[in-house]
Amino acid sequence: MLIAPSILSADFAKLGEEIRAIDKGGCDYIHIDVMDGMYVPNITLGPVVVKAIRNETEKVFDVHLMIEEPSRFLEAFADAGADILTVHVEAAKHLHGTLQQIRALGVRPAVSLNPGTPLSMVEPVLGDVDMVLLMTVNPGFGGQKFIPYSLERIRMLAEMRKERGLDFLIQVDGGITLGNVEEVVAAGVDVVVAGSAIFNAPDVSEAIRQFKERGVK
Ligand code: DX5
Ligand code: ZN
Repeated sequence: MLIAPSILSADFAKLGEEIRAIDKGGCDYIHIDVMDGMYVPNITLGPVVVKAIRNETEKVFDVHLMIEEPSRFLEAFADAGADILTVHVEAAKHLHGTLQQIRALGVRPAVSLNPGTPLSMVEPVLGDVDMVLLMTVNPGFGGQKFIPYSLERIRMLAEMRKERGLDFLIQVDGGITLGNVEEVVAAGVDVVVAGSAIFNAPDVSEAIRQFKERGVK
């Protein structure tokens, strides 16, 4: 299992320091939540901030775009240093074209689904993505509660992957804690995003270590 701390729950007044702490703590990806106040009811950060923090770490930048019509900003985020660009199936008018555009920029394409979106919506593009992100809360804010039905969705997606002989990663995001990480990994998850569970812990390195320990399949 790979661990991707979400910096949404970090202290933005000392973002560089927070990023160095999760880097040193052994995280795999750094999950960066981009929100536009339209697709989700919150606003966070854009390419300028991604570029600024790119100097702080060599870790994989896993950029989760919660924005309307993400194709407008793919190049800006690629130039800023994104390694993975995740777009929402509900927000991209031409999903297949958008994923191709990400690949052409030399970035790993991923697609995300909200808890109420049927898995069949991404079925046509499963062969075109490196990762599928299942939202396990409704997007917009950190610190929400994991939606239990998500476990069934993880199992269904893992089954679809197996049936089609594909190898995209399955990522979950929202409400993941030390209390449920074992369960989601057992259901088929490869990459776990955790925001509040890591940044609100007394020691971020220790929290990452405990997640990794519990996430061994
Ligand atoms: C929610 C974001 C998440 C969020 C997760 O819209 O996509 O990445 O930061 O936070 P926790 O782990 O606190 O639920
Ligand atoms: Zn996210």
